[in-house]
Amino acid sequence: MKVLVTGGTGYIGSHTIVELINHGYEVVAVDDFSNSKPIVLDKLKEITGQKINFYELDVCDKEKLRRVFKENKIDAVIHFAGYKAVGESVEKPLMYYRNNLDSTITLLEVMDEFEVRKIVFSSSATVYGDPEELPIKETAKLSTTNPYGSTKLFIEGILKDVYISNNNYSIAILRYFNPVGAHPSGLLGEDPNGIPNNLMPYIVKVANKELPHLNIFGNDYDTPDGTGVRDYIHVIDLALGHISALEYIDKHTGIDYYNLGTGQGYSVLEMVSAFSEVNKVAVPYEIAPRREGDIAMCYADTTKAKQVLNWEATHSLQEMVESAYNFVVKNQK
Ligand code: WQD
Repeated sequence: MKVLVTGGTGYIGSHTIVELINHGYEVVAVDDFSNSKPIVLDKLKEITGQKINFYELDVCDKEKLRRVFKENKIDAVIHFAGYKAVGESVEKPLMYYRNNLDSTITLLEVMDEFEVRKIVFSSSATVYGDPEELPIKETAKLSTTNPYGSTKLFIEGILKDVYISNNNYSIAILRYFNPVGAHPSGLLGEDPNGIPNNLMPYIVKVANKELPHLNIFGNDYDTPDGTGVRDYIHVIDLALGHISALEYIDKHTGIDYYNLGTGQGYSVLEMVSAFSEVNKVAVPYEIAPRREGDIAMCYADTTKAKQVLNWEATHSLQEMVESAYNFVVKNQK
């Protein structure tokens, strides 16, 4: 089975390519390097022993994308490509709507032209907004508080309408909770450009003395220790969730939604102390004001992915924090 991976040199895309190859899939990857680096292709070759069949392109570029489908018989698509910084989306909504929606619509048009009707879409738990009940089920109310989250919600709606127009589609929408960690080799990992928005890459830079201290955005939330609680999931568990989803849509038409989380929430302070204890490194922090748009608690009900996709997360918190730090230590500039 030949799988097209958009955003293939990105953090989750690259880890998913490793697992696709481990599971015997043929891979074609595309990326425009807007939030990743070409060196990831060398790292993928080092890990998998295979040169990745790669095209540098923007998924919005229909002619370049058509060429990929002309030159490769694509059986299914995993669509990661998209901008994903919550804060940036608030400042630049039109850039987010243009890029994330245009790229997806272009991809779906080309898939339709080449009669490719199997797609796994990278969505996000951010579509649940501030949950009314925990753990969060896939049937929970959907609402978004920022343009990034709205692009994910709109794309979920576009995919539903595409399925309604043609029931031969097989669509899995995966709602990620908080991806963290890195490949154990230390060759792949989360490597955001500039000052990280997310907690784990920020902690890593503080531990690596690239940043002076972590700002903990509020310790007065209604949570056990007052700091925000999230469902952190190892990026390799996330990648394996895509393999399970691919196997499922290969045998079933339809459209469905799956939470990819561990079902276990950890607070910011718990993440800081776990990181520090496991890696034997200091992570100085200061309590700072709450961040606009943050919610107190968010963690997944993982029943459906287990029952339908036969998938569950298996990596521990220790493996998450250890692999995240190992990536930076192994790739010191
Ligand atoms: C986690 C916790 C912060 C940074 C977002 C998106 C989601 C996904 C993951 C893309 C919160 C606290 C953070 C810092 C802190 N992105 N924090 N200091 O906001 O749960 O989710 O990123 O797919 O879609 O919504 O992740 O890592 O930013 O924050 O105290 O410097 O860490 O308040 O409680 P978040 P996060």
